[in-house]
Amino acid sequence: MSDTLATNVLTYPFGNSGLDPLLPDLGPDGVGRVRLPTGQQAWLFTRHEHLRELLRSPDFSSDFTRPGFPLIRPIPEDMPRRPDGSLIRMDPPEHTKFRRMLTPEFMIKHIRTLEPLIRQTVVDALDEMRAAGQPADLVEHFALPVPSMVICHLLGVPYTDHDYFQERSRILLAWSSTPEQARDAIEELRDYLTRLIAARRGEPGEDLISRLAAERVATGEMTEEELVGLSVLLLIAGHETTSNMIGLSTLVLLEHPAQLRRLRERPELIDDTVEELLRYLTIVRTGLTRVAVTDTEVGGHRIAAGEGVIALLSAANRDTDVFPDGAEFDLERGSHQHMAFGFGIHQCIGQPLARAELRIALSELITRLPGLALAVDADDVRYRDAVVFGVQRLPVTW
Ligand code: HEM
Repeated sequence: MSDTLATNVLTYPFGNSGLDPLLPDLGPDGVGRVRLPTGQQAWLFTRHEHLRELLRSPDFSSDFTRPGFPLIRPIPEDMPRRPDGSLIRMDPPEHTKFRRMLTPEFMIKHIRTLEPLIRQTVVDALDEMRAAGQPADLVEHFALPVPSMVICHLLGVPYTDHDYFQERSRILLAWSSTPEQARDAIEELRDYLTRLIAARRGEPGEDLISRLAAERVATGEMTEEELVGLSVLLLIAGHETTSNMIGLSTLVLLEHPAQLRRLRERPELIDDTVEELLRYLTIVRTGLTRVAVTDTEVGGHRIAAGEGVIALLSAANRDTDVFPDGAEFDLERGSHQHMAFGFGIHQCIGQPLARAELRIALSELITRLPGLALAVDADDVRYRDAVVFGVQRLPVTW
């Protein structure tokens, strides 16, 4: 039996209003109940210490096909339920096996070898933006192409196909898409990557997809279908997140001119700045969803097997017990305990890559464009209505 809370059941998700996430007042305990668009109810946890407890507990599953899994968006009846290689939705021991296959590819020492390529991509994009003339949309010219080009290089996906995969990725993550549109977008991405994998098996390159096909699919450790699912996840996660972070980070820095000046004077603060931006923005605003697989407890609350839970990262990252004045942006606060990349076994595998891209993109941007400024009033900046938070456009001058 689970315990009940004397609080109201809130409608979830809360939506995106601006740079500050909409956070419910759940009292000191920070635990509540929410109703999802599917009609299901779920627990909502917001405190940093509760999220640590929940996200490292083996009593919760990430597998959305399990009964009771809290779905933030309904899944069409005819959606194929296949073992699809999407690491993020797997539980151990399968998750452990797949994660081990990918770990070496995303280790810091491997990502360091990519830094010259990332820097060149950043510099070229800035040159092209300058050539396009001002005002220019920083999202279109810089924030979106840079991570897209890097993940394409890593995976062996031709960047010339960027319109195709960016559009489907956008549909998949937009709240305004119907479940059917989201399903079609994912199926089209799967078809696209199935064809690409077949081509790479015939003519392997130096890229990750070719390597996984030769070393894991050919040996029977992974099916081709699983490689397709894994590639879809990496392609979407690899560009959407970092791209939104670059756009939003630029906005935050321009909105905090004293801190931007400080960063320009002391460029060695860039690593701390990136961590603080990750904390302050927490772009995975819908939080992380799990279902209890056994009767368990979090923060003293009893949760029954089959009940869904949501770990609200954006709230934990502003928990004032861990981050005093958590609603303030302060690039010197030392925010290494943030949870923007999640926590526990599913903690973002791409974080060394994301950090390298953010560090290089933001340092080059503020150094090469010393006169960078918003070309519109900050209040007129439109935010994306999507699962991953971001700006739609960011018109700038320099
Ligand atoms: C700033 C950028 C990024 C943010 C904020 C971010 C955030 C996250 C979060 C919160 C999770 C945990 C999901 C969960 O526990 O359910 C996650 C997992 C994951 N991320 Fe990222 N991510 C970023 C960049 C990237 C990049 C660049 C890649 C790939 C190249 C990537 C690939 C993945 C993968 C594959 C997982 C699943 C890991 C697992 O289940 O073991 N992410 N990410």
